[in-house]
Amino acid sequence: MSKPFVAGNWKMNTDSRGGIELAERIACGSLEIVSKKVTVAVCPPFVYLGAVANALRASSVAVGAQNMYFESKGAFTGEISASMLKDIGCTYVLCGHSERRHVIGETDELINKKVVAAVSGGLLPILCVGELLAEREASQTEKVITRQMKNGLAGLSAEKVLAVTVAYEPVWAIGTGRTATQQQAQQVHDFIRRLVAEMYDDQTAAEIRILYGGSVKPGNAADLMSQQDIDGLLVGGASLNADDFLAIIQAAV
Ligand code: 13P
Repeated sequence: MSKPFVAGNWKMNTDSRGGIELAERIACGSLEIVSKKVTVAVCPPFVYLGAVANALRASSVAVGAQNMYFESKGAFTGEISASMLKDIGCTYVLCGHSERRHVIGETDELINKKVVAAVSGGLLPILCVGELLAEREASQTEKVITRQMKNGLAGLSAEKVLAVTVAYEPVWAIGTGRTATQQQAQQVHDFIRRLVAEMYDDQTAAEIRILYGGSVKPGNAADLMSQQDIDGLLVGGASLNADDFLAIIQAAV
């Protein structure tokens, strides 16, 4: 298994002072374990990315954006390109987070353009996939994941797809306190890995990183990480509290 990866998605939270303070506390608290044993990233809102990247410059904690646009520059009012994100020190970018799919209305096709543009722009995309509760209850989970994976990764070669981290985030588990059981998560992670083997090859499937996200807390992180196909965690609410996020990082090692 690759080095575990823990990413914090701050969503539309924090302010400039609070964000920098949170980043500094995470950098300081994870000094000994990050880089050697675990990869850590935080994803602040766009407007705080530069300040947080600056605060983390001397640390091993990486910075990711929560979104981007697929065009490189031009008349796209309000949008941010991969090269802009690189320019201010981002390494990662979330693509297709469920809130962008279901609240903002992003389609698989748009998400695919972002993933491809992120890879060619030198960023490491984290492609989020996951089913709604109604889809799970209708036994559509595998069908939904297959569609999101095949469409999301369209056009990427086996070599390029390894720049992508997949995050399985069942929508019913996000922000609800209702975490998928470790067995439920493992089952879908195993399915995703087999799907990658089918789309690419066994080696790519073995190497690609698959994170779990959805109500990850200090109390369930170790159990989730004990599962064979869970390579890391994408943390929302608990990543806004330095102590909780540090405890999750520790549990992932
Ligand atoms: P919560 O950890 O708050 O459930 O959010 C998960 C998530 O959406 C991370 O991207």
